[in-house]
Amino acid sequence: MAKKIILDCDPGIDDALAIVFAVGSPELDLLGLTSVAGNVGLDLTTSNAQRVCEFIGATGIPVTPGAAAPLLRPPIDARLVHGDSGLGGARLPDPTGRPAGGHAIDYLIDTIKSAPGEITLVATGPLTNIALAVHREPRLVKLVSDFVIMGGSASRGNVTPAAEFNIGADPEAAAIVFRAGWTVTMVGLDVTLQARATAAVRDRLQPLGPLATELVLPGLDQYATDADPLAATPLADGQQSRYRAHGAEADGIGPAVHDVVAMAYAAAPGLLGLLPARVEVETTGRWTSGMTVTDFAPAAGEQNALVATAIDVGGFWDLVLDSYHRVAVAMRTPA
Ligand code: BDR
Ligand code: CA
Repeated sequence: MAKKIILDCDPGIDDALAIVFAVGSPELDLLGLTSVAGNVGLDLTTSNAQRVCEFIGATGIPVTPGAAAPLLRPPIDARLVHGDSGLGGARLPDPTGRPAGGHAIDYLIDTIKSAPGEITLVATGPLTNIALAVHREPRLVKLVSDFVIMGGSASRGNVTPAAEFNIGADPEAAAIVFRAGWTVTMVGLDVTLQARATAAVRDRLQPLGPLATELVLPGLDQYATDADPLAATPLADGQQSRYRAHGAEADGIGPAVHDVVAMAYAAAPGLLGLLPARVEVETTGRWTSGMTVTDFAPAAGEQNALVATAIDVGGFWDLVLDSYHRVAVAMRTPA
């Protein structure tokens, strides 16, 4: 039976690509999306989630808006990477439907409670909604089947030398989430930067018709060609965000599709190698705020995470292409 999934996201080019992957994956049953401010503001992350679902014909998936700002800090965004629209060069029509009523936090709590032990929660944006949900309903940590994030890094950052964007955007929320009493599967830059959309991958995408030519490739193009190397946005503590696609990605190999890796793990856990760890989120460091400090030798009883350190890159792209192929075929088939 397909694994039930809720995706909390901030589309975002790679969030959009993760939505498409989840819809096309026979291993996954995408129940709903919740949106959070991150790559762009909440109105756009919400409408982008709707745009993507409508574009690929997945109109039955509710999109419930959540937090419009981090818990304590002023918002930062990633328009340098994802463009002002949040979807890079993709120009999808405005959604015709409306977002679901209510708040993401209520949707998360109610839906997970309605199917105890059955739902895998995947988060690919800042962790604001998840922190608020586990604060309101601490039993959520026992009620999910699994909790997977794209976020963090056991080594380098991208928004600053220490912090990955999703954690750096709301470190206080991330700290709450890592200390909530569940095992966080952390799919961070350690693996996502290994899975690049190379020229060979793009050649395989090309025959997929409008899915490729109107969404996936224009999104990847923006990722690939973005970058005024001097552009930077100030952070609240005076540091400069130099997040773009992505420092380490400016090597000509092709962009990473971070969020898709977290979703692919949900579909096929064997794609990633994971190590048990204790992860703490730095919230006060002058230069390290948002860092996921990772101890791979946690004391007994201290483990709170499984951290992805290895990825089967070929297997990953085969799985993604297979899922996208299913979506592309469904888009061509009259309803
Ligand atoms: C993460 O940051 C966002 O810009 C992407 O959507 C991804 O979730 C990568 O650091
Ligand atoms: Ca994201």
